[in-house]
Amino acid sequence: AIDIANLRRETGYVTLDPSFMNTAACYSQITYIDGEKGILRYRGIPIEDLVKKTMFVEVAYLLVHGELPTEDERQKFSELLNVNSMLHEDMRHFFDHFPAGAHPMHILSTMINALAAFYPNVDLKSMADDIDVSTARLISIVRTMAAFAYKKSIGDPVVYPRHDLSYCANFLNMMFDSPVKPYQIHPEAVRILNILFILHADHEQNCSTTTVRTVGSAQVNLYATISAGISALSGPLHGGANQEVIEMLKLIQADGNVRKFIDMAKDRNNPFRLMGFGHRVYKTYDPRAAIIKKECHAYLEKTNYSDPLLDVARQVEEVALTDPYFIERNLYPNVDFYTGILYRALGIPENMFTVMFALARLPGWVAHWKEMIGGTTKIVRPRQVYIGKTPAETAEVLARR
Ligand code: ACO
Repeated sequence: AIDIANLRRETGYVTLDPSFMNTAACYSQITYIDGEKGILRYRGIPIEDLVKKTMFVEVAYLLVHGELPTEDERQKFSELLNVNSMLHEDMRHFFDHFPAGAHPMHILSTMINALAAFYPNVDLKSMADDIDVSTARLISIVRTMAAFAYKKSIGDPVVYPRHDLSYCANFLNMMFDSPVKPYQIHPEAVRILNILFILHADHEQNCSTTTVRTVGSAQVNLYATISAGISALSGPLHGGANQEVIEMLKLIQADGNVRKFIDMAKDRNNPFRLMGFGHRVYKTYDPRAAIIKKECHAYLEKTNYSDPLLDVARQVEEVALTDPYFIERNLYPNVDFYTGILYRALGIPENMFTVMFALARLPGWVAHWKEMIGGTTKIVRPRQVYIGKTPAETAEVLARR
C-alpha cells in the first residue's frame, strides 16, 4: 500500500490527476464542448450550422483567426493555399525511401518534421506574425503530401495540385486522377469531404492537440510541433480508430454474429473494445457522429453505392445501445464510427483514413498553437508523485558492492 503521509512529506502537495481526466490546462476561446448535452461549437458557431453554410477552408480561417473570413479574406487565403501547395523538389525523393507498406501516418509525420529543415529561418515570431502563410503552407502541403504518398503506394505518377479547384476537389483530383483514367470530380463527393473535414477540424484539448500545446510550449518550430501532433493522432485510441472500425466491421461481417463481438467488448479479460464507441468527454451521442450517420445514409442512397458494412454498423449500434453495459457507461458511437464507411464510398483506401483526419485537424492544431504562443503559457511541465525507492532502501545495495 502507498504511504500517503510519507508521500506528502516527500513530494509536497500536488494535484494528482493521471491522464488529466479532470484538469483544465489552459483558457481557450476556440472550441466549446458540452459532453453531457452533445454540443460542439467552433468560435461560438454550432457545427450543425457550419456544415450547412461554410466550406472547410472558411472553417480553417475561423479557427485560426476567430472570425469567418470576408469574401476578400477568403480569396486571399485561397491564393495562399495555391501558392503554398507544392513540395520542395528535394522532398519528393523522400517518398522513394520509405519501406513498402509503411503506414502513411508515419510517412506524414516524418515529412512534416522535415519541413522544419527546409524552412529553418521561420522563427516563432515570424510564424506568429505571418500565421496565414504558415497555416496555408501546412494545410496545403499536407494535402499534397498525403496524395503523393498514396500515388507512390500504388505505383502511379503523382498528380500536381490545380489552382482552379477548391481545397477538397483538389485533393480528390490529386488522389484519383490518372493518365489512363481521368477522374470526374463529383460535386456531391466534394460536399461530403467538406463536411467530414469540418467535423474533424477541432476538438479542444484532445490527445493530439494537447501534444501540440505541450511540444509547442518549449517554443519548438511549428512544423516539428505539428509532426508530434500527427504522431499522437496515429494511435488506435485516438485518430487511428477510424481505420480500426472498418477492420472490426469486416471481422463482424465475416463472422455474422454481432452479439458475440458485443460480449467480447464487455469482457474485462478480453482486450477487444468496440472501436468507434465511447469518448472521454461525450457521455451522449457524439454530435459529429449524428451528422455523419445521416450524411452516410443519404450519400450512399444518392450515389447508389451499396456497402454491406453500413448494415453491420447499424446492427452493432442497435445491439450496443440496448445493452446495459453500454447504457451504464454512456458508451455511444463517436465521430469515427461512420466516418470510414463514407471514406470507403469516396474511394479512400483504409490506410489513408487517419491521414484524412490529420488533414482535417490541422487548422485546429494551428489555432491552438497560435493561442498558446500568443498567451502567457509557460513551458508545460507537470509534477509527479514519486513512489520509487528511498535512500534507506538503496543504501543496503550500495553497501554490498
Ligand atoms: N468498448 C467496450 N468498453 C468500453 C469502450 C469500448 N469502446 N470504451 C470504454 N469502455 C468501458 C471501459 O472498459 C470502462 O469500463 P469500466 O468502467 O468497467 O472499467 C469504461 O467504459 C470507461 O472507459 P475508459 O477507457 O475509462 O474511458 P476513457 O475516457 O479513458 O477512454 C476512449 C475513452 C479511449 C475513447 C475509449 O472509449 C475507447 O477506447 N474507445 C474505443 C476507441 C475509439 O473509438 N477511439 C476514438 C475516440 S474519438 C477520437 O479520438 C477522435
